[in-house]
Amino acid sequence: SARKFFVGGNWKSNGTISSVKDLVFKVLNPAPINFSKVDVVVAPMAIHIPLVQSILRPEIQIAAQNASITGQGAYTGEISPEHFKDQAVPWIILGHSERRNFYGETDQIVAGKIKRTLGAGIQVIACIGENLKERESGVTTEVITRQLSAIKNSISDWRNVVIAYEPVWAIGTGVSANPNQAQEVHAEIRKWLHANAGDVAAKTTRVIYGGSVTDANSNELIGQPDIDGFLVGGASLKPGFISIVESCA
Ligand code: G3H
Repeated sequence: SARKFFVGGNWKSNGTISSVKDLVFKVLNPAPINFSKVDVVVAPMAIHIPLVQSILRPEIQIAAQNASITGQGAYTGEISPEHFKDQAVPWIILGHSERRNFYGETDQIVAGKIKRTLGAGIQVIACIGENLKERESGVTTEVITRQLSAIKNSISDWRNVVIAYEPVWAIGTGVSANPNQAQEVHAEIRKWLHANAGDVAAKTTRVIYGGSVTDANSNELIGQPDIDGFLVGGASLKPGFISIVESCA
């Protein structure tokens, strides 16, 4: 395809200074990765970002896992997109289901965060996906369409956005979507892009899959025409992350 593969490692709320150093020095920095074929982006906890920036090889990019909907100011405990820009962080993951489900982020909040982040000049990994109940009641397409429509007006240039399709029932469960199930939704997302963002955006926007991706299932998933890479959680903390990256390149 015309799209460069994209693999993100979302470290979530995991790690210590010591384990982060191990992951960088022992797994990420020595790995043979063909960066002409695949973009690799890792998302440490915010508090670990400066450390990772100081030790990680420059070909691997860094993402934040969340950012505030507000700017600088009296917003205790929040980190704004502008702060991440000041820290030279090129990507932010927004709309992750853990943010939506555990911290009350609505479609509207996610849309506001995406708008602010793109406005600050930072690229976005925008997460969408249905939960188990929604899949079982056959409304997956409606759910992802609703989530995409909510963020549509926040995005003026799709080149700065990667869409991560992450079915909630597959996240951290060990039950990945099978390649056909994932492909079906990725094709729907591309169809939506075509209708709502135009032909060029539909052809060029990376749509990556997340949910129990490991080095045991990445090869068959990446064989699907509309799967352009992965957003990896648990397996991004282990050496197998490199095999997942290699399955793309
Ligand atoms: O952002 C990553 C996803 O939540 C997937 O997590 O690979 O641990 O299932 P997982």
